[in-house]
Amino acid sequence: MPDPAKLVRTIALMNQKGGVGKTTTTVNLAAAMARAGRSTLVVDLDPQAHASLHLGVDPGAVERSVYDVILGEAPITECVRAAGENLMVLPSTTDLAAAESELASIPDRQKRLENAFRDFGDRAEFILIDCPPSLGLLTINALTAAREVIIPMQAHFLALQGVGKLLETVGLVSKAVNPRLRVTGVVLCMHDTSSSHTKEVVADMEGFFEQARGQESPWKFARVLRPAIRRNIKLAECPSFGKTIFDYAPQAPGAEDYQKLADGLLREWDALLAKRQAEAPVPEIVVPAPGDGVPA
Ligand SMILES: Nc1ncnc2c1ncn2[C@@H]1O[C@H](COP(=O)(O)OP(=O)(O)OP(=O)(O)O)[C@@H](O)[C@H]1O
Ligand SMILES: [Mg+2]
Repeated sequence: MPDPAKLVRTIALMNQKGGVGKTTTTVNLAAAMARAGRSTLVVDLDPQAHASLHLGVDPGAVERSVYDVILGEAPITECVRAAGENLMVLPSTTDLAAAESELASIPDRQKRLENAFRDFGDRAEFILIDCPPSLGLLTINALTAAREVIIPMQAHFLALQGVGKLLETVGLVSKAVNPRLRVTGVVLCMHDTSSSHTKEVVADMEGFFEQARGQESPWKFARVLRPAIRRNIKLAECPSFGKTIFDYAPQAPGAEDYQKLADGLLREWDALLAKRQAEAPVPEIVVPAPGDGVPA
């Protein structure tokens, strides 16, 4: 029987729209999980290499990167490096931009990352994948390898339209190669709680997810995750120092928001693991869902 304590939770942070908070959320959520004592791997799947820079890795000096892993030129264990206590990073380089076209002619092109994660085993309990702002083959690799999707977004009307397109892609990947893929929810980034426009968009989003509960889809149990991440200048400053918010400004609102978000996800995860552990056999799929015995 598999040991449920060893299950790996693989989460793709995706949104094809640029500049919505994907990298900021991946890095600081991962750092918060690591601070809670959980071993966490950040996979930088974006040729811009912002997550690598944010974690203090100079992409120009990286010898082995996610590019080598995707193209099968090096084992993942040789490419992952430490980024702090309980925190690891599989860095990116600008070469990764070429991987997108090189992948096109390779067999199993959608499954390169999934295969690599299998080789990584349970060296990390959480794997957070920072996706590029596109729906190309790199993002498809992330969706094929992941069990969950978290969508960082800003609460604007136009952003809602983008979410429709994004869910369509998740639906296609789920049907074609990864039926276990689930959308966990949306993280509201650079959030302004005082604006009435923002409140309307959040209400629309919640209404949309509520309606989706009735039908089978990967976003059947999706929700707007709490807390929203407030706009906080310290979050914008820390990448240029190669530091997470916890190392750069641990008292800042950004640190508080990301720690609370991580703690909520970890609580759900632990409650679900405890529940599943009591059942036999232990199913392979473990994605928290409302009404699943998980405390709010
Ligand atoms: N809560 C926040 N408060 C203030 N600034 C933020 C916040 N979250 C993100 N930012 C800033 O907004 C910009 C875009 O964020 P980020 O790089 O995380 O977005 P992204 O979706 O990863 O972008 P890309 O699509 O280019 O990869 C960055 O300069 C980042 O520092
Ligand atoms: Mg980014």
